[in-house]
Amino acid sequence: MIKMILLEVKDLKKYFPIKKGIFGGKTYYVRAVDEISFDLDKGEAVSLVGESGSGKTTLGKTILRLYRPTGGKLIFDGKDITNLAPKKLKWYRRETGLVQQDPFGAMPPHFTIYRILEEPLIVNKIGDKEERREIVHKILEEVQLPPEEFTFKYPHMLSGGQLQRIAIARAIILEPKLVIADEPVSMLDASVRVDVLNIFRRIQEKYKMSTVYITHDLSTTRYFSEKIFIMYAGHVVERASTQEILNHPSHPYTQALFEAIPNPDPKNRFKLREVPPGEPPSLINPPKGCRFRPRCPIATEKCEREPPEVEISPNHFVKCWYPQ
Ligand SMILES: Nc1ncnc2c1ncn2[C@@H]1O[C@H](COP(=O)(O)OP(=O)(O)OP(=O)(O)O)[C@@H](O)[C@H]1O
Ligand SMILES: [Mg+2]
Repeated sequence: MIKMILLEVKDLKKYFPIKKGIFGGKTYYVRAVDEISFDLDKGEAVSLVGESGSGKTTLGKTILRLYRPTGGKLIFDGKDITNLAPKKLKWYRRETGLVQQDPFGAMPPHFTIYRILEEPLIVNKIGDKEERREIVHKILEEVQLPPEEFTFKYPHMLSGGQLQRIAIARAIILEPKLVIADEPVSMLDASVRVDVLNIFRRIQEKYKMSTVYITHDLSTTRYFSEKIFIMYAGHVVERASTQEILNHPSHPYTQALFEAIPNPDPKNRFKLREVPPGEPPSLINPPKGCRFRPRCPIATEKCEREPPEVEISPNHFVKCWYPQ
């Protein structure tokens, strides 16, 4: 099968300026996304995993051009969108969708579910009233919510899981080519997380949407993606197919993340986990060279120099001087 690239991300940077001091203080930069490069194929699902504050949301929002990149390039379907002004991005808004963490915060409370789903169709002048009704009903069926029961309800009448399915329906109703799902199930009850992910995955495959699923929970990625990207302090430190990452985690940070997954086997209940102590570094003044160096059990002096991204086996990339 020939793979077609949908999105090229080249040396992407997003720095946030912050001023310290009240009067004319010096400006510092939070380097939330720092020289990240990868391609996303058409129809491909990628999980982006990393600790809180590692820059996952910033990467997602920069890709969607909700932020203007500080540097690097974003090429979508062959078009350079890196510096397009908001007015010239209307077509891109149609081609992309975002599902956020908090479904309640993301919905206008005084709109019915029907109105919430019809809105993007009206804004984009799609169909007449009858055609729009058909599209809204179809999309509700896709997320397994019976239209006759849900169209006239308001957001507060729905459970978190139901509402997140509406958020998914709204994000995909224009059949975008790219969807970013930013921790879509982390606020939901554990019992419905896998259901919502499975529904999302089925739609993603059916509509062949390229998807980035952002999560801090490695254990849910196997339900979702073909590839896993591991993010640490503004860098993607490892990326490979899901199978490859699960079988051969190679960056010491990825290995630490695996150690941190709770092990349900009662035999291992008292086994101590060797998670490297410490906190992720400040993104204002990150450590020189490898950013994981201060927590890394195998770091040497060499790690004070920026590690290269090495392809240790086909399509398995690791940003480390000593891939394991
Ligand atoms: N609008 C902003 N202005 C200034 N700094 C920001 C802004 N948005 C994010 N940051 C900073 O950028 C860094 C990365 O934040 P980001 O929200 O991307 O992390 P994350 O990986 O999504 O974390 P979480 O798992 O907690 O959602 C953090 O240090 C954060 O404080
Ligand atoms: Mg986030």
